Amino acid sequence: MTRVRVLPVDESAEGEAETLLELCTEASLPVPFGCTVGKCGVCRIEVLEGELQEAGRFEQAVLDGFGCDKGVRLACQARLAGDVTIAPLGAAQCNPSES
Ligand code: FES
Repeated sequence: MTRVRVLPVDESAEGEAETLLELCTEASLPVPFGCTVGKCGVCRIEVLEGELQEAGRFEQAVLDGFGCDKGVRLACQARLAGDVTIAPLGAAQCNPSES
């Protein structure tokens, strides 16, 4: 059972899922998404606490293409590795430290 907490809304849920987005959508957590296959970038999130499995080559290439900072992941591609706290960034932002 994995617990996901979404800030700043401070909503959380527990569940079993392969990807972060699967758990969030099943639990109706407020994480925006689009394509669900790692192309649009709408599901970008910042990991605030906890960990996800390391990004695969495909996910990393997409994140690099968007110029994302380390710590930014695609919720639809990121595989759960334990409890995690995230903040959705949305399509317009990829470098939270610069905002
Ligand atoms: S929903 Fe499109 S990249 Fe994740």
